[in-house]
Amino acid sequence: MKRMFVLLAGAVLAAFPALAQQPRFPDKSITVIVPFAAGGPTDVVARQVAEAMSRALGVAVVAENVTGAGGTLGAQRVVQARPDGYTLLLGNIGVATAPTLYRRPPYDPLTQLDAIGLITPVPMTLIGRPDLPAKNLPELLAWLRRPGAEVNIAHAGLGSASQLCGTLLRSILQTPMTPVAFRGTAPVMTEMMAGRIDITCDQTTNTVPYIRDNRVRAFAVTTPQRLAALPDVPTTTEGGLPQLQVTIWHGFYAPHGTPRPVIDRLAQSLRAALADPAVLNRFSDLATTAEPPERATPDAHRAFLEAEIARWRPILSAAGEYAD
Ligand code: MLT
Repeated sequence: MKRMFVLLAGAVLAAFPALAQQPRFPDKSITVIVPFAAGGPTDVVARQVAEAMSRALGVAVVAENVTGAGGTLGAQRVVQARPDGYTLLLGNIGVATAPTLYRRPPYDPLTQLDAIGLITPVPMTLIGRPDLPAKNLPELLAWLRRPGAEVNIAHAGLGSASQLCGTLLRSILQTPMTPVAFRGTAPVMTEMMAGRIDITCDQTTNTVPYIRDNRVRAFAVTTPQRLAALPDVPTTTEGGLPQLQVTIWHGFYAPHGTPRPVIDRLAQSLRAALADPAVLNRFSDLATTAEPPERATPDAHRAFLEAEIARWRPILSAAGEYAD
C-alpha cells in the first residue's frame, strides 16, 4: 500500500514538474513598500496590517517607506521587483489616478501590478493650523474667500489623496491658494503645528490624534455623517460645503506575474488581518473600518481599480494639471 502511494506520488510529480519545484510560500520575510512618509496615514495602515499578516503567515512582514512623486516612486519599485510575493505595495487612491495624471505614465497598474485585495476606505478631514483666525467651516470659507487672501494648502504630491481633496476644494471655491507638496502628510503636521502651513485635507488615519489634542484645528469631516471617533467635528454639509465629499481607499499589490497561489495566500492572510481585533480596534480609533472579506480579494480589487481609473480620468483631464 505504502509502495503504491510512493509510486503514485512519483507519477504525479513526473507529470506536473512545476508542483515539485513550487517552494513553500512564504519561507522568508515579506517587504511592504509604503510609497509615502513614515508616520503618515498610509504608513499607519501598512504597519498595523503588516503586523497582523505576519501573525497569519508566520514570517515577518516589514514596511519600508519609498517616498516621492505622489507615491509613484514606491509603486515603480514594486513593478520592478521579482514577482515572487516577497515585495508588495500598499497603495492608496493614487494608484488609480497616476495613469491619467502622467502624460507618459511611469507604470501601468493594470498590466504591471496584480491586485491582492482592498484594505480600508478612509474618510478625510479638512484641517488648519491651530492659530487660524477661523474657528469653524463657515468662518474658514469666509477667510479663504476674503479679497487678497494668501493661503497655502499642503498635499502629498500630485495624485495623492490630500492633493485630490485639495483640488476638489479649490475647484468648488474657485479661490486662489498656493499648493505645497510634501513626501507624505506626516511632515505636513509638523509644519502645520509650527504655523507654516495654513490648511490641508488629510485622512483620519493621520489626523485624529492631532485633532483630539487640539494640535491642529478641524473644520469638517468629508463624509455624509459625523464620525464616531470625532463626534464634535461637523460634516462638510453641516458647514455649508456639501460638494466636498471624499473617501480614500487602500489596496495591496504584487508585481505582475506573481503566481496565483501566492496571490491567493497573501489575500487570505489579508482577510485574516482585517478580522484581527487589534487591527479593528485601531482602525475604529482612527475613524476608519476594514473592508469586508468579499472586497479583500484579487478579483474585487481589480474590478474596483478599473472602475476608479475610469471614474477619475474625466475629472482629472478636465482639471488639466499634469505631473509631467
Ligand atoms: C500619506 O501616507 O502620506 C498619504 O496617504 C498621503 C496622501 O495620499 O495624501
